[in-house]
Amino acid sequence: MYSGIFPQTRLRRVRTSSFIRDLVQENNVSVKDLVYPIFVIEGHGIENELPWLPGQYQYSQDKVLNIIQECVKYGIRAIALFPKIDSSKLNNMATESYNPSGLIPNVIKLIKKNFPDLGIFSDVALDPYTDSGMDGIIDESGYVVNDETNHILSKQALCHAESGADFVCPSDMMDGRIMLIRKELEQNNFHNTGILSYVVKFNSSLYAPFRYAVGSGFVIGKRDKKTFQINPGNINEILHEAFLDIQEGADILMVKPGMMYLDVLYRIKSEFKKPTASYNVSGEYCFLKTSNWLNYNEAILETMLCFKRAGADFIWSYSALDVAKILYQDKLSS
Ligand code: PBG
Repeated sequence: MYSGIFPQTRLRRVRTSSFIRDLVQENNVSVKDLVYPIFVIEGHGIENELPWLPGQYQYSQDKVLNIIQECVKYGIRAIALFPKIDSSKLNNMATESYNPSGLIPNVIKLIKKNFPDLGIFSDVALDPYTDSGMDGIIDESGYVVNDETNHILSKQALCHAESGADFVCPSDMMDGRIMLIRKELEQNNFHNTGILSYVVKFNSSLYAPFRYAVGSGFVIGKRDKKTFQINPGNINEILHEAFLDIQEGADILMVKPGMMYLDVLYRIKSEFKKPTASYNVSGEYCFLKTSNWLNYNEAILETMLCFKRAGADFIWSYSALDVAKILYQDKLSS
């Protein structure tokens, strides 16, 4: 494949000017590759900037359409929704998670009514709804019980589908949940509601700011998620997880976190060749957004490009709106 030695070959020839660099560029980022995660909160008149995620907010229902409008203006085609539930509604059985008139179902309906073409990914997991801050029902010893949790997750997924979610996104890592959710959706005629599965969800320190944004960080205490999320040292286990989720009916695979796990993204895309997304998680957003030592705009564009190069078809990122604005400005000025 490689031929020629110096000076016949000077690789810098195709780096000499802007037009040729652009012509030979192998991967690109477009606003069409981006999904913007949005936090919603119960109550009225709330637009809370999150101290743990500077530049990101919790929006009450009456405020959320403003940010959606801005996303649409800059070309973003899809969002992901995460709730902050009032602490009085949290309990071990996460009963609020499948309340058809709860926060997320109402917000989905509101957005779909006003922006019918905007894609909605809704998170399916119990951590914003449990008083333990864990992603499932816990027994007396604190262990997250798998099958009972799956039962609640499938009710939650159905409730989101009924409200109009395009994709439900199980982020809990219980065994067998994709199969149960798919069955529940099919039985209720939601044949085209997709499942984006967090097939690869590592037990990562990088989720800390997110946990405060959905509230679980305040109640989780010393509990950890090692009995269900994956050890960051493992790769074979990941391939096994992904294989099972595909068998069970996952339409899209999500690798999470993003930046430190590009090898995993590459492996998942090349082994399975399924639609694959990467989640540029809260901790990663924070370290680029809050660093005084680098140019944030350059750093996030580079980050998005690297996700694409590693095999992501699309990217969830708290920087999505910032990136969309940069790409919009670039277009205006070119
Ligand atoms: C939990 C969930 C988490 C994130 C998305 N869904 C956190 C966790 O597993 O504790 C993290 C996202 C981020 O850090 O941006 N179901």
